[in-house]
Amino acid sequence: MEAKRIVLIMGGGIAAYKCLDLIRRLRERGVDVRVVMTRAAQQFVTPLSVSALSNDRVFTDLFDLDDEREIGHIRLSRLCDLIVVAPATADLIAKAANGHADDLASAVLLASDKQILMAPAMNPKMWLNPATQRNVRQLEADGISFIGPAVGEMAESGEAGPGRLVEPAELLAAIEARLHPSSSGSLAGRHVLITSGPTHEPIDPVRYIANRSSGKQGHAIAAAAIAAGARVTLVSGPVTLGAPAGATTVQVQTAEEMLNAVRAALPADVAIFCAAVADWRAASPADEKIKKTGDGEKPQLELVENPDILKTIAHMKTGRPNLIVGFAAETENVIAFATRKRRNKGADWTVANDVSTHTGVMGGDRNRVHLITETGVDSWPEMSKREVAETLIARISALLHDKARRV
Ligand code: CTP
Repeated sequence: MEAKRIVLIMGGGIAAYKCLDLIRRLRERGVDVRVVMTRAAQQFVTPLSVSALSNDRVFTDLFDLDDEREIGHIRLSRLCDLIVVAPATADLIAKAANGHADDLASAVLLASDKQILMAPAMNPKMWLNPATQRNVRQLEADGISFIGPAVGEMAESGEAGPGRLVEPAELLAAIEARLHPSSSGSLAGRHVLITSGPTHEPIDPVRYIANRSSGKQGHAIAAAAIAAGARVTLVSGPVTLGAPAGATTVQVQTAEEMLNAVRAALPADVAIFCAAVADWRAASPADEKIKKTGDGEKPQLELVENPDILKTIAHMKTGRPNLIVGFAAETENVIAFATRKRRNKGADWTVANDVSTHTGVMGGDRNRVHLITETGVDSWPEMSKREVAETLIARISALLHDKARRV
C-alpha cells in the first residue's frame, strides 16, 4: 500500500506528551509524520524528542528562511494526506476559525486543501465557553472534523468535564479511518452526501421555527453508508445525536446554511435528502427579543419560503449527483403525494413515510417506508430506522454496481 503522510500540528497543552506515543504508533504503521509545533507546544515537549520519534526535523517558525526556500508553509500544507491538530487548544481553534495566519501552525491550516482532523484538549470551562463552541461550529461548517474532547478530570486543575485529549489509540483509529477509507465495501470510492435533522429558523434571538425531526433516520443512513465503505458527508441540522464515527459532519441551523453546506460538499455520487427542512423562515428576524405590549396586540410574523435544497441540487445543469434520493414526509395520501413530489422535485427516488402522530415515526426508532422510483412503488415492512438505512444503502449499492457493469 502506498505510504501515507500526515502533518501533525501540536498545540501547547499538557496533553502534548500523548502525541509522542501517537507518532510512534503511526510510524510503526508505516505512516510518515511531519510535525509542526507551536511556540506553546515547545514548552511542554521538546522538539528534540519529537524529532527523534518522527525521524524528521520539526517545523516551528513561519519565517525560517531555509524552510521557506526548501519547503515553506504552502508546500508543508499540501504534501500530506491529512492534517491532524493535537492537542487542538482553544487558541489554535480560534485562530483557525477566524483565518489567522500569524504563526506556522495557523498558516499551514489556512493554506491547506487537505482533510483536517482536530483533537481538542483544554480546560472544560474553556471548551464549554460559547466563544470556543462558536469557533468549533464554524470549523465544522468549514468541513473540519473533530474527535473528542473526552470527558474526565483535568491534569492541572482537577476540574472535571469535557476537555481531555482522546487517548492515542482512539486518535490513531480516527486517523486510519481517514487515511484508508474501507476499500472493500460496496460503496468504496463513492462520496455520499446526506442531509439530516430539522432546521431552526430564527424569529428573534430566543425563538425559532422548528419541527419534530430527530435526525435518527438520516444519521442511521450515514452510518450505513460508512459501513458500506463510502466517504460520507453528513449535513445536519440541530440534533441531540452524536455525529456518526467516520463521517465528515457539518452542523448547520437554517435551511440557507444547509443549502450552502450541501453545495460546498459537492461533488457527490449520491445525495440523500433526509432533513426535514423548514419550508418557511421569518422574513426579517428581530435583533432583540420581541416583547408583549400588554394590550393583547399580536406580533405580525411575516414568512418567506426557504430554498428547496433537494430541488436546487436535482436541477443542477452540471455536477448533479448521479443518484438523488428524496424523502417525503406525509400525513395523508402518502404514496400519491410522494409520487408527485418525486417528479416535481426532480429526485430519482423518493422514500415516502407516514409521519402522522399515531405512527410515532417522528422522533421514534421505527419506520415504515415506500420506495418510489421511476418504475414503481416498493413498500417495505415496518422495521427499525437502522434497518431502513441498511436496506436503502444496499439498494443504492446494487444500482451503482449495475450501472457500472453496463458501462
Ligand atoms: N426538502 C429540501 N428543502 C426544502 C424542503 C424539503 O431539500 N426546503 C427536501 C427534504 O429533505 C425531503 C423532500 O424535500 O427530501 C421532501 O420534504 P417534505 O418536507 O416532505 O416536502 P416539502 O417540499 O416540504 O413539501 P410539503 O411540506 O408541502 O409536503
